[in-house]
Amino acid sequence: MFFDHLQNGGYVGAHRGARSLAPENTMLAAELGMVLGADFWEMDVQRTADGKLVVFHDDDLGRTTDVSARPEFCERAPWPVHRFTLEELRSLDAGSWFAAQDPYGTIARGEVREADLGRMRGQRIPTLEEALAFTRRNDFPMNLEIKDLSYAPGDLSIVSQVLRQIREAKAEDLILISSFNHDYLAEVRRLAPEIPLAALVEERHPEDIERYLADLGAVGYHPDEAILDEALVRRLAGVGIHVSPYTVNHMDRALSLLDAGCFGIITDYPQTLRRRLTVR
Ligand code: G3P
Ligand code: CA
Repeated sequence: MFFDHLQNGGYVGAHRGARSLAPENTMLAAELGMVLGADFWEMDVQRTADGKLVVFHDDDLGRTTDVSARPEFCERAPWPVHRFTLEELRSLDAGSWFAAQDPYGTIARGEVREADLGRMRGQRIPTLEEALAFTRRNDFPMNLEIKDLSYAPGDLSIVSQVLRQIREAKAEDLILISSFNHDYLAEVRRLAPEIPLAALVEERHPEDIERYLADLGAVGYHPDEAILDEALVRRLAGVGIHVSPYTVNHMDRALSLLDAGCFGIITDYPQTLRRRLTVR
């Protein structure tokens, strides 16, 4: 399983791929995360209008695609992902926005290679199937976050659909599933005892975290770094919980959390954290 590939802790997780160097949640971002030294990549899964699973973060398409410039879609603003078919989503350009906006200043600083810049324009929203095939082909572990779709009736069925695709790709051993929706995690535990879980938490820790995670059957804990301190990391790591905070973009903070015993650090700058860890 995921934790057999990554046994010791101290790992670098590429948040939505190498998000500071390539358009997030694209195959280019996944590939750069891998070649630049991340130990695993994190990505987000949600469902299309025709029931297909795709890799995409936001609820709406505006920020990270060219949908607003496409006349045929202009009346569908704010362009919710779940109201678009897979075919419509695949017709969008999910990469040029990054080259145009340089959201992390990495292009201006010369940190993005010309060849990667050239590939951005062709990036499409990946299917989960594509992402799993990449992970399997490269033995590159993946933290699969199931987005909270509780606005949609029947949303719990996304869990069995995700599990079916993981099994079809024969990628069970490379996947860690996380979600802010802990009902989804309980459903994974019921249907797939072989796949490890991590609970995502944003604003506050659950009371009695150790008990909470044990009841959920989760070995991983992924809190927002803003609510995490080193003492809590030491406490949880001491009882075998794999703590991987998000999104840690300050490298001194990342190193301090790793020293306290974090299993992994989920960062937009996997390339920088890898370099810092290498020269230590
Ligand atoms: O999985 C960690 C992190 O990705 C959770 O937050 O909003 O970036 O998906 P978000
Ligand atoms: Ca995520």
